[in-house]
Amino acid sequence: MAAAQKDDAVVSRAIKVGLAPMAGFTDMPFRLLCTEGGADFAVSEMISAAALTRNDKKTEGLAATDPREAPCALQIFGHDPEVTAEAAAALAERRPLAIEINMGCPVKKIVSSGDGSALMRDPDLAGKITEATSRAAHAAGIPLWVKIRAGWKKGEVTAPEFACVLVSAGADRITVHGRTRDQMYAPSSDNGVIRAVKEKIGEGAEVFGNGDIDGPESAVRMIRETGCDGVLVGRAALGDPWIFGRIKAALAGEEIPPLPTKEQRVSAAVRLLRDVCALYGEERGVRESRGRAARFIKGIKGSAAVLDRLNHASTEAEFRDILSRLI
Ligand SMILES: Cc1cc2nc3c(=O)[nH]c(=O)nc-3n(C[C@H](O)[C@H](O)[C@H](O)COP(=O)(O)O)c2cc1C
Repeated sequence: MAAAQKDDAVVSRAIKVGLAPMAGFTDMPFRLLCTEGGADFAVSEMISAAALTRNDKKTEGLAATDPREAPCALQIFGHDPEVTAEAAAALAERRPLAIEINMGCPVKKIVSSGDGSALMRDPDLAGKITEATSRAAHAAGIPLWVKIRAGWKKGEVTAPEFACVLVSAGADRITVHGRTRDQMYAPSSDNGVIRAVKEKIGEGAEVFGNGDIDGPESAVRMIRETGCDGVLVGRAALGDPWIFGRIKAALAGEEIPPLPTKEQRVSAAVRLLRDVCALYGEERGVRESRGRAARFIKGIKGSAAVLDRLNHASTEAEFRDILSRLI
């Protein structure tokens, strides 16, 4: 049966499933939950290369990892090859899984400084950044990855040629989010462009796909349709770190575990609250936990009223008590 043969082809490859970088979310406490949920690896929140080279303490905190978590790549953004190389050399001392350069962020503040997806409009500079940074990372024995988008806008879908420039400049992995910069997060991500990058790069470097994976089916579809070497899950993991286990089971041809129960979701939100408060202090921890808890309890009966009350909670104990009443 054709479908079964295709499934076998997916199952027989060693596909890695990772947590995509998300500023404000993919810090160490959340990555630990994803590790337990089955993620093979994760990527940190993006870290300013310029701030890092100024020894900014808050920025250094973004690079913190924990030995209990799955291997973690540290992501930087910047537009000056000397600065990104210096930042990579400093981060390499922490022995991350990889250093990744962000060339995909669409946010105005980042793009207007020439960072993130703005670099997709300047392949020469992007190549120089990749060359200098990969040299610094490789000197320490650490791989260099770059995360890109499909292109800048419709009619400027340059990812395949752009990826070639980056691989020639020393990138070991290209992660492609199948949307252009001006699409931000809608309409749906295009697997065709991920496939085009994979075909262009061949065996020259790994190509990982990203965009709109919300469970085993969409993950398997992306792998089938693109031939990519691995996938990253972003938004769908925010309230469901168990998604990695379900995807991995599907890829291994095993029985897919059930969706998490209400109790598991609320318990995970409570644990995240505890760990975030321990890491950042109670005031910031409670503030940061509002948006995070919302993802975990979405869809549970009574969650709208609970969210409203969480927005007014000011201590960890109060926050925990309100959450716990959902179960
Ligand atoms: C809140 C948020 C923060 C993000 N921060 C980053 C980031 O720091 N670096 C990056 O390369 N991509 C960032 N992204 C993009 C994601 O890594 C990913 O490419 C995108 O969400 C598409 O994947 P998904 O459909 O699985 O969510 C962010 C996305 C969201 C929603």
